[in-house]
Amino acid sequence: MKIVVIGGTGLIGRQLVSDLVDRGHEVLAASPGTGVNSVTGEGLAPSLAGANVVIDVSNAPSLADDEVVTFFQTSATNVALAARKAGVAHAVLLSIVGTDRLQGSSYFRGKQAQEAAFAHSGVPFTIVRATQFFEFLGTIADGCTRDGVAHLPTFALQPIAASDVAATLADVAQSEAVNGIVEIAGPERAPLVEFVGTWLGHRDDSRAIVPDAETGYFGVPADDRTLVPGAGARLLPTRFEAWLTAQPARQQA
Ligand SMILES: NC(=O)c1ccc[n+]([C@@H]2O[C@H](COP(=O)([O-])OP(=O)(O)OC[C@H]3O[C@@H](n4cnc5c(N)ncnc54)[C@H](OP(=O)(O)O)[C@@H]3O)[C@@H](O)[C@H]2O)c1
Repeated sequence: MKIVVIGGTGLIGRQLVSDLVDRGHEVLAASPGTGVNSVTGEGLAPSLAGANVVIDVSNAPSLADDEVVTFFQTSATNVALAARKAGVAHAVLLSIVGTDRLQGSSYFRGKQAQEAAFAHSGVPFTIVRATQFFEFLGTIADGCTRDGVAHLPTFALQPIAASDVAATLADVAQSEAVNGIVEIAGPERAPLVEFVGTWLGHRDDSRAIVPDAETGYFGVPADDRTLVPGAGARLLPTRFEAWLTAQPARQQA
């Protein structure tokens, strides 16, 4: 099959492209650097000519309130429209578990708009909502750090390895569209402070940690149900400890 990966040069995109190539598909890694811009539309129609599947794993380059919503809305609308015009048989989108419960955040309002553009595109679609990537725990730590102290939320997290996300997207791309949402998560659930604390310890990061039951998720109130998937979620195999062991202990300067 010909498969176009929008955002094919990013964290998930690179692994997804490699996985799909290994499975024998003709794959186009689409990003501004490869001449495809989903916001301006540059290169989009030619890239999708003859494509069977498009997978959107793009991310907003700016997280500023108005820019992030505009990015996801514009990009997804352009991708969905171009996919319909090209006669693509399946449009797959990577989103986030709990998107509908985090609408106090402009990022998640952007993700909701992105989902809506795919769902209303007229193209058979599958929205894959993943939990937080193990690779994202450092960003969460930094986002919770003030004056060198990490004030880490205590609500539940069920993070997932980026490699498992990429492999699942490849599986979904080879399957029939579900015209709905599929949730995926890692195999273990624990308080966020435990995952991030373990990650910081593994990296010899000496910043102080304060568990904080009042801290939300990037400014949005959250509880034990907000970021974890429902009962029907697919749980992927990579355990946090195994992933951690494969990571370098300390970030190179
Ligand atoms: N972080 C998490 O824990 C998490 C959890 C669940 C789902 N997600 C979702 O996963 C998705 C992928 O995340 P990621 O970490 O892999 O992102 P990433 O590493 O930041 O990669 C983003 C990709 O989007 C491309 N891109 C940016 N602007 C574009 C444009 N105008 N046109 C086409 N491509 C463009 C980038 O291209 P360049 O390389 O050229 O800039 C890059 O290939 C995001 O939508 C995110 O919401 C994230």
